[in-house]
Amino acid sequence: MADTPPSLKSWKVAPCKQSLAGALRVPGDKSVSHRAVMFASLADGVSHIRGFLEGEDTRATARVMQQLGVGIDTPAYGERRVHGVGLNGLMAPNAALDCGNSGTAMRLLSGVLAGQSFSSVLVGDASLSRRPMNRIATPLRDMGARISLSSTDTAPIEFSPAGKLQGIRYRCPVASAQVKSAVLLAGLFAEGTTEIVEPVPTRNYTEVMLAEMGAAIEYGDGFARLQGGSRLQAMDVEVPADFSSAAFAIVAACLVPGSHLRLTAVGMNPRRTGLLDVLRMMGASIDITPVQGRTELFDIDVQASPLSGVDVPVETVPDMIDEFPILFVAAACATGITRVRGAAELRVKESDRIAKMAEGLRTLGVRVEETADGADIHGGAMHGGRVDTDGDHRIAMAFAVAGLLAEAPVRIEDVGNVETSYPGFVADFSTIGANIEAI
Ligand code: S3P
Repeated sequence: MADTPPSLKSWKVAPCKQSLAGALRVPGDKSVSHRAVMFASLADGVSHIRGFLEGEDTRATARVMQQLGVGIDTPAYGERRVHGVGLNGLMAPNAALDCGNSGTAMRLLSGVLAGQSFSSVLVGDASLSRRPMNRIATPLRDMGARISLSSTDTAPIEFSPAGKLQGIRYRCPVASAQVKSAVLLAGLFAEGTTEIVEPVPTRNYTEVMLAEMGAAIEYGDGFARLQGGSRLQAMDVEVPADFSSAAFAIVAACLVPGSHLRLTAVGMNPRRTGLLDVLRMMGASIDITPVQGRTELFDIDVQASPLSGVDVPVETVPDMIDEFPILFVAAACATGITRVRGAAELRVKESDRIAKMAEGLRTLGVRVEETADGADIHGGAMHGGRVDTDGDHRIAMAFAVAGLLAEAPVRIEDVGNVETSYPGFVADFSTIGANIEAI
């Protein structure tokens, strides 16, 4: 029998009658998994990736690289062996390249495809096909790429062969690691130096990993400079647990009275962990301990404690850009008002996350006032109800946590896309004592 379409999958979440307890190792980091498989494909030699996120998004990236002629084996669940074809070894695909729901896949691959001497087309699902792609097309065209978008500046993205790309100095108008990465990846195929200056620093995995693979790249807070033609050497990658997936259990443990939870082996890139700063401002009790012998990994211990509303510092917004759905839930359960501003980017994520969170929280009885770039969330009791996710994985998981705190069951519609980033979410939550029923 065919699988149930994602849009028909739902969850019923029961109010949590007991505290949450135990330890969780959430799946591998999405940002690192995408980059590991993509960069290893462009490298000379064989790379082994462990802890690879077996999500729909990262599998889409691996499938696209295979369509471009790269040999990728799966020795075990969560592992990939990538037979790099070298900087100039990709081959023309014989069909459109499907990025599914993944903005990271589409925008980073655009940087790679812009520099090839063959034509290609990137496509995505309905949500991805609504998201803005002029933010990558503009700098890539400045480098000499031939790119056409739909009439609304969205996917499909068509690449036609152009002459050799030229390095540029690009001042990025949006704080976006995806745009920065697309430009740097195109820079690998360009003549001369490619330099990018960011309005505020964003996650730097691309810079760190390209440097580790031997590229001639310099970088610091808010800038990166790459030498065109830099060859990459194969590298073994251990992917840490994804902070953005851990965030749901972290907030659940803050909120469900009496809880004590440990999230293990989590990657703590400082441009990702702004949520911890904001939760601590709200009164959360969270301790972080480095994993012995693994300086880049941390265990996070969370103990439940009452939270109070805060004004989220605008400068923290880029460091927690994926965590706003779950922050909205923390705010709904805090005393007082939480104010979010400077977060207009949330309107162009997998869904309009300001609108969807405001709509769902109001359905559960929470007072939320929307602004163009944020919201005021008034903490208070949540009753039960039925909320819709618009197919957004993080909206679904945020409302699953809300359901644990509500006075009556919460039904969440259209949860299938949780598979894009957090396969095993329901099972993980059941091991720590939550009751989420797939229906
Ligand atoms: C990502 C960058 C962010 C983030 C996304 C992953 C990345 O997007 O929201 O989930 O891996 O580079 P933007 O670059 O659009 O901010």
